[in-house]
Amino acid sequence: MIDFTFQNPTRIHFGRGAMNHLESECRALGATRVLLVYGGGSIKRTGVYDQVMERLSGAQVWELGGVQPNPRLSLAQRGVALCREHDVELVLAVGGGSAIDTGKAIANGACYDGPLWDLFDGAATNTRTLPLGTVVTLPAAGSEMSNSCVLTRDEDLCKRGRNTPLNFPVFSILNPEFTFTLPPFQTACGVVDIMAHMMERYFTRVSHVELTDRLMEAALVTVMRNAPLVMQTPDDYDARAEIMWAGCLAHNTLYQTGRVGDWASHKLEHELSALYDIAHGAGLAVVFPAWMRYVLPRGGAPKLAQFARRVLGVTQEDDESAAREGVERLEAFWQSLGLGTRLKDYGIDGRNVERMAKRCTAMVGGTAGAFVVLDEAACREIYRLAL
Ligand code: NZQ
Ligand code: ZN
Repeated sequence: MIDFTFQNPTRIHFGRGAMNHLESECRALGATRVLLVYGGGSIKRTGVYDQVMERLSGAQVWELGGVQPNPRLSLAQRGVALCREHDVELVLAVGGGSAIDTGKAIANGACYDGPLWDLFDGAATNTRTLPLGTVVTLPAAGSEMSNSCVLTRDEDLCKRGRNTPLNFPVFSILNPEFTFTLPPFQTACGVVDIMAHMMERYFTRVSHVELTDRLMEAALVTVMRNAPLVMQTPDDYDARAEIMWAGCLAHNTLYQTGRVGDWASHKLEHELSALYDIAHGAGLAVVFPAWMRYVLPRGGAPKLAQFARRVLGVTQEDDESAAREGVERLEAFWQSLGLGTRLKDYGIDGRNVERMAKRCTAMVGGTAGAFVVLDEAACREIYRLAL
């Protein structure tokens, strides 16, 4: 296990009555001027919007709707302008990862004088942010308790993530009932993303990380057991609750403690969703098995075999065949949720492989990942394995 510092400051209110904490959270922050950030309208159809507005009746509220999946810089810039114009004291993001990430970008941007993209391409950094609260309607990205924020620049579809403690929300409200209305496709994408956040951490070269290995195995098994239940019965509160809490824990950095994560699959996926605007979880269901097949013969077999045995119930004794069987079973599980696991399932061919591989390795020293360090050629190979 390697040295670490762990702190997660986000307060979680979980359960059927979680929304009742919204007023007291605003009071505690002294926030009477609120920017409400949300997506394309699902919160209005589901009644979550009305519940939020009822709790905010004592505050002045400005609204910024229209956040699209794979959210764009331009909308966040509009939010920053609204915060400045109206002296906003709290950004409240209601929705999935896209609404929350837009809220994070706005809260940070409101406290930074330069161009907002500076914060995403590493050209500058800020030291303050406005307080951010979230109401989660889609368990997937884990943004409600994460230090990450992912945004896409409109003009060149460059998608970049930024990790900083400033991105931790002050509070997040999680009511599993708000997820009953999710379409099966979004539920499935969320399940894949939650699993991927753990798998990116699970596949590490750091040894003696048994506690975090076992924590993730338990959460992965739990998600896999409950996913079919919610696909069959969308209003199964208990199954939705298990998935929602797992999604939050999967990305709140606890499971990263004492180890080095990989994150290559996320990088490979971000290029896909930037260019083709597919759902992040759908892209991960394509990229992750291909990444596993690539790393397996490159020293990856023992850890992949451990994953296959403990999470997927594989019994083969030799690591190589256990690992291979694990990838097959993982793919079959994601397919059973209705997702494709090949690029062709989403109508994507190989024509942009070069471009995506280049961008994937452009930011940090020409490589991606740590379990197996990938150069541009390796990224190309993985995209090809995913065709
Ligand atoms: O836009 P609305 O109308 O709200 O509809 C959304 C959207 O179309 C819909 N939806 C959400 N809750 C619903 C619902 N529909 C019915 N009932 C509900 N209860 O679902 C669609 C997808 O929403 P979105 O927020 O885009 O999905 P997700 O939560 O998967 O977020 C994806 C974004 O998060 C980023 C991804 O890259 C992507 O941009 N990520 C953010 C991370 C972070 N900040 O920590 C980490 C992740 O790895 C990820 O990269
Ligand atoms: Zn993710």
